[in-house]
Amino acid sequence: MKVIGINGSARKDGNTALLIEKVFDELRREKIECEMIQLSGRPVRGCQACYACSRNKNGRCIIEGDPAQECIDKMVQADGIILGSPVYVADVSSEMKALMDRACLVGRANGGLFRRKVGAAVMAVRRGGAIHAFDTMNHFFMISEMVVASSSYWNFAMGREPGDVLKDEEGLRTMKVLGENMAWLLKKLHA
Ligand SMILES: Cc1cc2nc3c(=O)[nH]c(=O)nc-3n(C[C@H](O)[C@H](O)[C@H](O)COP(=O)(O)O)c2cc1C
Repeated sequence: MKVIGINGSARKDGNTALLIEKVFDELRREKIECEMIQLSGRPVRGCQACYACSRNKNGRCIIEGDPAQECIDKMVQADGIILGSPVYVADVSSEMKALMDRACLVGRANGGLFRRKVGAAVMAVRRGGAIHAFDTMNHFFMISEMVVASSSYWNFAMGREPGDVLKDEEGLRTMKVLGENMAWLLKKLHA
């Protein structure tokens, strides 16, 4: 089994990446393969509403030259999908939103490419807006017919500078429980 984690932060190896890795630690403990794609420095264009994906039905977005298709392909191949984003102005990063818009349309145009995969959203936040970003990413999972894994709190940890989230004990515990629950769910679904 495999889980793909997508880090929508503009900052490579920052707090969001650290949180995704914390979830990965628990998944790997259960022998689930994990891979992270970081979008930092690789801008993702927004959906251009051309509906070529609906006409072509080839599992592809017609826009080329950015990492969206690589992400979509890896999401299709994976059994679980973690979407990670820093909180930017009380929501997800532009890259994450652009990816979700395009992946959502490609998925739906092709009979539900993410259907029944396990999803989880994680957020790094300095102080406010994490729940709104959480809702945004959960909207993607819920319209994609995915099964959402939960934790003992909403899946965020607090910090501003890279590494700060490692001081948020409760945030780290939330990631650990999320990883455990995601592994449990994946194993039940694939028993
Ligand atoms: C453009 C921008 C907007 C931000 N907006 C918020 C915000 O609304 N609320 C908040 O608590 N932190 C905000 N932050 C802080 C980041 O969420 C925080 O530094 C986070 O740890 C970054 O994660 P990263 O290291 O993965 O990039 C913002 C940062 C940036 C660059």
